[in-house]
Amino acid sequence: MNHVLVLGANGQLARHTTAVFLRTTDASLTLYLRRAARLKNPDPRRVRVIEGDVLNLKTLVGAMTGQDVVYANLAGDMKAQAEHIVEAMHTSGLKRLIFVSSMGIYGEVPGEKYRSVLDPYRDSAAVIEASDLEYTVLRPGWFTQDEAINYRLTQKGEPFVGHDVSLNSLSDLIVKLAITPGLHVRESIGVSQI
Ligand SMILES: NC(=O)c1ccc[n+]([C@@H]2O[C@H](COP(=O)([O-])OP(=O)(O)OC[C@H]3O[C@@H](n4cnc5c(N)ncnc54)[C@H](OP(=O)(O)O)[C@@H]3O)[C@@H](O)[C@H]2O)c1
Repeated sequence: MNHVLVLGANGQLARHTTAVFLRTTDASLTLYLRRAARLKNPDPRRVRVIEGDVLNLKTLVGAMTGQDVVYANLAGDMKAQAEHIVEAMHTSGLKRLIFVSSMGIYGEVPGEKYRSVLDPYRDSAAVIEASDLEYTVLRPGWFTQDEAINYRLTQKGEPFVGHDVSLNSLSDLIVKLAITPGLHVRESIGVSQI
């Protein structure tokens, strides 16, 4: 059985993906978030909720005990967050990390110049890519509520294709990454709707 730690569990994509995990897998989830009272436990038999900040190393290491996969769905000071995640995973002996970033971090979107608003996404991805973890960095386009699950992937070094991606597509991909050993390991992939 898979044990998945969701960091930033009250985020829009994290909440959407939690529901897909519960609906389509038998994974056990640990939802890690600040101010945990905001989140109702969606299934107490399979879900544990931990209040914590990713920048609190002690709480983070504690939450990693017994996990198989870390899925980071964060925002804000992402470079420091990435550094804490890498250190905590080393301490815990965990290897598998799915880290949500953004399209554009390598200036890979045709017709769009790199913008400094992407610095936290670029810098955190660089921290992850420099680690020895079994990471997958996701570079999604703009999220939509489109029902369709229909996406294409682009590799680092290739131009990003498209602009949007549905939450349904992203959650489908994240769940597959979490439950399929070796899938897109040590890759940074662009994700967009077909
Ligand atoms: N929306 C789009 O179209 C789009 C496109 C490409 C990429 N992205 C990026 O994809 C990522 C996920 O998107 P989203 O919509 O799910 O983002 P979101 O709703 O803003 O969720 C991010 C979560 O990170 C949490 N967080 C921030 N700092 C933290 C810390 N130190 N410790 C613990 N949790 C922390 C926030 O918690 P609090 O609630 O406590 O603040 C928030 O719940 C974001 O980085 C977003 O910018 C979004």
